[in-house]
Amino acid sequence: MLFRDRRPSLQGHVAFACLSPRPAGTRAVGFSLAWHAGTVSTKVLLGVSGGIAAYKAAELVRRLREQGAEVRIVMTAAAQSFITPLTLQALSGNEVRTDLLDPGAEAGMDHIELARWADLVLVAPATADLMARLAAGLADDLLTTLVLATTAPIALAPAMNHRMWLHPATQENLARLRGRGVRILGPAEGDQACGERGPGRMLEPSEILDAIALRSGSQLKGRRVIVTAGPTREALDPVRYIGNRSSGRMGYALARSLAARGADLALVSGPSALTPPSGVDLVRVESALEMETAVMERIADCDIFVAAAAVADYRPEEPAQKKIKKSHAELSLRLVKNPDILAQVASLAQRPFTVGFAAETQDLEEQALKKLKTKGLDMIAANLVGGDTGGFERTENALLILWPGGRRSLPLGPKSRLADDLTDLILERYLAHPPSQNP
Ligand code: CTP
Repeated sequence: MLFRDRRPSLQGHVAFACLSPRPAGTRAVGFSLAWHAGTVSTKVLLGVSGGIAAYKAAELVRRLREQGAEVRIVMTAAAQSFITPLTLQALSGNEVRTDLLDPGAEAGMDHIELARWADLVLVAPATADLMARLAAGLADDLLTTLVLATTAPIALAPAMNHRMWLHPATQENLARLRGRGVRILGPAEGDQACGERGPGRMLEPSEILDAIALRSGSQLKGRRVIVTAGPTREALDPVRYIGNRSSGRMGYALARSLAARGADLALVSGPSALTPPSGVDLVRVESALEMETAVMERIADCDIFVAAAAVADYRPEEPAQKKIKKSHAELSLRLVKNPDILAQVASLAQRPFTVGFAAETQDLEEQALKKLKTKGLDMIAANLVGGDTGGFERTENALLILWPGGRRSLPLGPKSRLADDLTDLILERYLAHPPSQNP
């Protein structure tokens, strides 16, 4: 059987990109990545400096450890005002270091040994102040001393107010650090804790993991995956259309997450302002019919199909050839049903592992179960739309994942994290239960 033969095994596919230390005195230009199969542990020295984004360090530690990394943490004095060392100690399983010359800690692993121990020094968040101290080569606390003493690659995830980020002083520091081979991850643009908008938001932990390639794996290497994303537009006339509020965020995050596991990924996207993840084959479409064509053209050798798009259920029967004029008191539209792309894929004789979404305003589980059964899916991710639990046009969401005989709730969180967790579940189910073929 085509699909069964091609599915990977669960064993021996936890691959980590190990970051080779650069020889002393040489300048690292980006990371040198070496791929190893097996449970290779990467030693990550995580520096946390004092910004509001320090709370994200807790999630970052959890995620690094999930990926098999060993994590040791160094906090600046200011960071401790935002998150306690005890929290990070509990999550990392290692004592958190805060002082340069702590006699107790130095008796164990001294700061030079700690600098040598690391495969990677990751500073998240990196504040404007920390970047300035690093650019100047100061060694006035444990973290800056370690950064000077290490030969491991260094990555910074900046987080600060957008004006501070854009200030010439910060930009000069940034250029100096980059010039020394320090890798800069982000920052992202968006709403900031200070209530303003602009570049300066720290990347989400999952984005940092992707950037440093620890999360990457080869479980889906050689597998073909199609993800649909975004809204569709159903033309009324040459200038107007029926659309919906989907931003494409969930689909794009899933595409990024699945591609990071090695999938050969086609992202069939309705109109979206988002930047597509690198390395995916982006197929832009407008209407449901175009999306159907784009999917069906590529479905023959597809292993996993994820329908995250908000496809319009109906389209105007006959879009006007010319702009509709407001010459009538009333205007009636006649709509006809669009093909259900998801149901069509799930009913193929040689079907891929098929995952659907359900956006509901009520009776979430009941409605999602009904869709799982009637469309014959392997999995469905359901979310409530409207209310305060996320949904369209938001960066956060909560999902209820159902499959035949099982369920899991993914609590409210960034869509990037939900996408990673959903990808884990898809992988788990796909590997253990390949799709049964239709008669
Ligand atoms: N979907 C699709 N093609 C369509 C409509 C929906 O592929 N023409 C997919 C969506 O991408 C999503 C799933 O079907 O994965 C659920 O869509 P949803 O609109 O929530 O459910 P419907 O089945 O359309 O039912 P209803 O609108 O009545 O709730």
